[in-house]
Amino acid sequence: MSSPAVTATPSETIAEATGRMREHKVGSVVVVDGARPIGILTERDLVRFAASGADASATKVSEWMTDDPDCVAPDVEVTEAWRSLAERGYRHIPVVRGDALVGIVSMRDLVRIAQIRPVDQALTDVPKGLAGVVVAETSVGDVRGQEGFYHYRQYNAVELAEKRSLEDVWHLLFEGELPTPEQRKAFVEEIRPLREIPTSVRDVLPAVATAGERFIPLDALRTAVSLVGYAGDFRPSLDLDHAALRADAMQVCAVIPTLVMALYRLNRGEAPIEPHPDLPYGANYLYMLTGEVPDPEKARAVEQYQITTIDHGFNASTFTARVVTSTGADLAAAVVGGIGALSGPLHGGAPSRALELLDHIGTADNARPFIENAVRNGERIMGFGHRVYKTDDPRSLLLRSVAERIRAGKVDFAKQVEQTVVQVLAELKPGRDLYANVEFYAGVVMDHCGLPPELFTPTFASSRVIGWCANILEQAARRSGRWA
Ligand SMILES: CC(C)(COP(=O)(O)OP(=O)(O)OC[C@H]1O[C@@H](n2cnc3c(N)ncnc32)[C@H](O)[C@@H]1OP(=O)(O)O)[C@@H](O)C(=O)NCCC(=O)NCCS
Repeated sequence: MSSPAVTATPSETIAEATGRMREHKVGSVVVVDGARPIGILTERDLVRFAASGADASATKVSEWMTDDPDCVAPDVEVTEAWRSLAERGYRHIPVVRGDALVGIVSMRDLVRIAQIRPVDQALTDVPKGLAGVVVAETSVGDVRGQEGFYHYRQYNAVELAEKRSLEDVWHLLFEGELPTPEQRKAFVEEIRPLREIPTSVRDVLPAVATAGERFIPLDALRTAVSLVGYAGDFRPSLDLDHAALRADAMQVCAVIPTLVMALYRLNRGEAPIEPHPDLPYGANYLYMLTGEVPDPEKARAVEQYQITTIDHGFNASTFTARVVTSTGADLAAAVVGGIGALSGPLHGGAPSRALELLDHIGTADNARPFIENAVRNGERIMGFGHRVYKTDDPRSLLLRSVAERIRAGKVDFAKQVEQTVVQVLAELKPGRDLYANVEFYAGVVMDHCGLPPELFTPTFASSRVIGWCANILEQAARRSGRWA
């Protein structure tokens, strides 16, 4: 607090009181009767006074002060004083001991303290993971964690993955509706040329693919996406209309699968493979890895995984992409931000780790001791637990059935391990409701379809970019509500 507080008496004039405020460079005077505060005259009162046009030398403080101000005691916690100011919209609170004024706390004092407060004593309570906090409204998609359900524009996402092509779902997210046959044809035609890597990016791609001592596909990808935006002269989203921003989004979504595979091959000293003009989405994806037309069952399995991961409410990477867009930055910047968030092992980096887990466990007998030991050592079991789902993750159920359908080599073992992990987590982490998430069977499916573990997270990114872009388009369209 500031002590002593600057004071005035009720019978003084406004001119005298404001003169004192100016002299002491304060925004309020406490009006006292002896030592007892009976009112407060603040900048807010003075604005009202000025608007009245009255004469400051002929008007008494008592006529414009706020009577009986809320006060705090000198020994209250700073957080309490902050709450009083914030909740009631005040900027100054007199501090009293008994009846006597001993000082004043102003917003300025608290901000000074806030800057040096240790971070573990946050002044306001922010729910973990922003649970329940409305950060934006969206009609792209949402997750109902308790029900084990998520949707894309109100369509059950799992059903879409079962029945529709990836391009259909992409159309749904961008255009708001599933395509008619004519629209589908036009949409696929629109995508086809956009899958090609722009020439200026293609020229530097070998250097990007081999720049690191180790090959980290997502690092290479985010660099390449940044180049696509730069080479394509992507403008700030603030300056673009919907059609122009959509064009940038189409290009980035279409080219990312090509970039993923080209970077992987270039790093291994192999030439990139051009997209196949006639193959469906998943088949083309695998084709660009090997140059061979893949088994349609495997291609469809990968595509189904890609459909399930297109969007998932306000997950960390989607939130990131929206935050970047809210500043009016260009679309590539937002997608690069999304890739950065996705690269964390707790978000998109889990599928290869989940597969490694199976390898480490080795045999069904070893599952229980292995998992118990890991959990007791405070480790997280990759592919289990979810921020929102507190029941079975519907994506995990779908991918388990996909893994069974394609008779994935590791599926039986994975099912045994899943059971054990769920049991052990229920015993050692009771009440946390931890089940297999999307990543657990994703690794099993992708492994069986011939994708190397290094490409698991990039494959996640290859379709999640569609969800990011749908959110970016929506965020940009709501400029009035932007957070910048
Ligand atoms: C996804 C994840 C980050 C969600 O976390 P969250 O909902 O914020 O949950 P918390 O981090 O608060 O964890 C809650 C409790 O469950 C435990 N827990 C959560 N996931 C766990 C896991 N996979 N293995 C072991 N314990 C786990 C935590 O240790 C914590 O225990 P505590 O209360 O004794 O401290 C978390 O479940 C996780 O790290 N999973 C493994 C990584 C993964 O598979 N990621 C892919 C997500 S699709």
